Amino acid sequence: MPFPVYYHDYLQLDKILDAQHPESDLPGNNPAHDEMLFIIIHQSYEIWFKQILFEVASVITVFDANQISDNSNQLQLASHRLNRVVEILKVLVHQIDVLETMTPMEFMEFRDYLRPASGFQSLQFKVLEARLGLSFNDRHGQEYYLSQLKEEHVNQIKDAEKLPTLLQGINKWLLRFPYLEDTFWIHLQTDDCSENLFWQEYRKRYASTLDDREKGNLAAFDQILFADEPITAFHPKALRSALFIMLYRSEPLMHLPFSLLKTLLDIDEQLSTWRFRHINMVHRMIGTRIGTGGSSGKDYLQGALNKHYIYKDLATLTSFMMNSSKIPLLPADLKNRMGFK
Ligand code: HEM
Repeated sequence: MPFPVYYHDYLQLDKILDAQHPESDLPGNNPAHDEMLFIIIHQSYEIWFKQILFEVASVITVFDANQISDNSNQLQLASHRLNRVVEILKVLVHQIDVLETMTPMEFMEFRDYLRPASGFQSLQFKVLEARLGLSFNDRHGQEYYLSQLKEEHVNQIKDAEKLPTLLQGINKWLLRFPYLEDTFWIHLQTDDCSENLFWQEYRKRYASTLDDREKGNLAAFDQILFADEPITAFHPKALRSALFIMLYRSEPLMHLPFSLLKTLLDIDEQLSTWRFRHINMVHRMIGTRIGTGGSSGKDYLQGALNKHYIYKDLATLTSFMMNSSKIPLLPADLKNRMGFK
């Protein structure tokens, strides 16, 4: 009986299941049982990276458009897909448990056959970091990055670094956020020439909540949220919008924007959790020996963990929050706009 679509062919299983060739099986090498697990785990990671990149690219297209109607399904779709990314990342963190069923001695059986290959050379991982918004300048170990990869892969990553990123798309979207225009906050005006009425009021109240040891926060508030030129990856005005969304997250119209921002923080959290678990695993497996890729091993990875938080500027905004009973009440007409009619 002919099958118009057949499971095995549709999934191209001949290709996928014929792609595990342990180095330890090569003539002259000693067979090492655990190398199969090592290969399959890495391949699973790469397949999931492919799916994550696919989702992230589609979301970037949504935000890269000059105009997204906040009432259209586009924003909802973006949030939905980024949530999927977070769930996949959780699976990737959990996969470390599976790999850790291999003991250091079992790893030793085949580790030397792998030199100088290393997960560091994962092209998709680096492209993903770039597409999420990590710039070359912010990378830890830049020289190492250039020396350990094939030239064609360096070029592919450089090309990816030139594409619009998710961070830039979110920044653009936040810059269009309308509810901070002075026209909505005219009742707060104290003299004819004051601008940024909401934030002047907010700053006053925020300053009054600061402990003596926190007084430096006010300078950071002014610098990060009001510098003329951006001093972070986000524009100060975009960060003001993000803070506003976080403060008024319970207003119906703010739910989706808030959930989007939260998802970005979740992505950073899952990625850094993965990095942390990976470092611990590396420490367990090889101690302080250098990596197969030739880096300082654990120290290199710790540097990347500390430096590669992509949406750290959004996480920093928590420092500028205060108890909700202290934040300015929304003017009635703005509250109406933000609610269901
Ligand atoms: C026995 C298990 C593993 C060990 C001992 C190990 C070890 C290392 C070491 C030492 C490095 C630093 C670069 C170097 O000198 O090689 C590294 C980097 C890396 N490894 Fe692994 N690794 C393991 C499993 C994995 C797995 C399962 C993945 C999944 C894809 C992975 C992905 C990566 C990535 C993406 C980097 C670069 C990280 C960054 O730049 O922040 N590794 N690994």
